[in-house]
Amino acid sequence: MADTNHIHNIAIVGASGQVGSTIFKHLLDSPKDFKLTVVTRTDSTATFPSNPSITVKKGSYTDSPFMQDAFKNQDVVIFALHFMAQAAQNGMIDEAAKAGVKWIVPNEYAGDGMNEAMVEGVPVFAPKKQARTHIEELSKTYEGLKWIGVATNPFFEPFLIKQAKVFGIDPESHTATIYPDAGAFNASTMDRIGLAVTRTLSLPITDNSNPRASLQHYANNFLYVSSFCVTQKQVLQAFQKVKGEKGTDWKVSEDKTIKQWMQECQEGLKQGNMRAGWGLTMCYYMGEGMGGNYEEKAEQDRKVLGLQEEDFEEAVKRALTA
Ligand SMILES: NC(=O)c1ccc[n+]([C@@H]2O[C@H](COP(=O)([O-])OP(=O)(O)OC[C@H]3O[C@@H](n4cnc5c(N)ncnc54)[C@H](OP(=O)(O)O)[C@@H]3O)[C@@H](O)[C@H]2O)c1
Repeated sequence: MADTNHIHNIAIVGASGQVGSTIFKHLLDSPKDFKLTVVTRTDSTATFPSNPSITVKKGSYTDSPFMQDAFKNQDVVIFALHFMAQAAQNGMIDEAAKAGVKWIVPNEYAGDGMNEAMVEGVPVFAPKKQARTHIEELSKTYEGLKWIGVATNPFFEPFLIKQAKVFGIDPESHTATIYPDAGAFNASTMDRIGLAVTRTLSLPITDNSNPRASLQHYANNFLYVSSFCVTQKQVLQAFQKVKGEKGTDWKVSEDKTIKQWMQECQEGLKQGNMRAGWGLTMCYYMGEGMGGNYEEKAEQDRKVLGLQEEDFEEAVKRALTA
């Protein structure tokens, strides 16, 4: 008899992308034998391995019969969308609900969406909240429909390390701005994100003896992924150590505060400067007490998923030499 207490069929929209590909890889490698359906755009050049567990559906995000076909018999739909495609997400969520899907992993992969101040304060988070609210509204018609948000904070390799300048650390000019009112914040390697999502979707849907270790715990809730919880100073020191540099090789300023940077970003946003919008995200990630440190929640999730913190210095070395 079919095991109805576990997820079997998973569709991913955007499986070729930065975050989609790590989720896809881990789902494919999982011993759970998931059946994967990849939804890719008509004009996409992405390719996927030929494998009996994978079905590729190529079509348009706005083609209702195509979406109904792709989402039929799926237990979960995961969205991992390029930012330009986010506007199409709610329409696809409608199609998933109509097709009978019960679990949606919407396009989050950012900060803690339960942090209302951050969600209200940062415009790029608005569509993420709208998608979650949309799913909750739809669940009034489509009973049992729910979302699982995936909080990752900054992607470690492509963002925190490769674009460290955004976090105040510029390895090219050997200058750093260390904000006195910054604190420790969580960050996730790409591999850890894929593994954590896969282990979450491998949990039993319900478990009366341990509800915390069931998918039901994550219904309309967040999974908190984290490889490390680090300060700017630790990032700077790791750069120096991996590159064999001394502290005196760098010019470090501690004059500016996150509070000042936030004000600049808010002003920039009023003038339509998109970079200021991204800057605001960094302020919330790094500002002490602003929500970028979700370590307590991440630790609980690591326990449930059988994961450990990763080796920070090793990860910096890998990212810098990749
Ligand atoms: N926390 C962080 O540091 C961080 C950093 C970056 C992004 N994010 C979040 O993660 C989400 C996913 O980001 P990502 O970097 O994984 O996405 P991505 O690699 O840029 O794109 C994901 C997929 O979206 C599909 N797509 C749809 N419309 C597209 C278009 N107009 N141009 C290109 N691709 C398009 C493509 O799949 P097909 O070709 O198969 O159709 C692509 O592979 C973002 O929306 C953002 O919210 C977070």
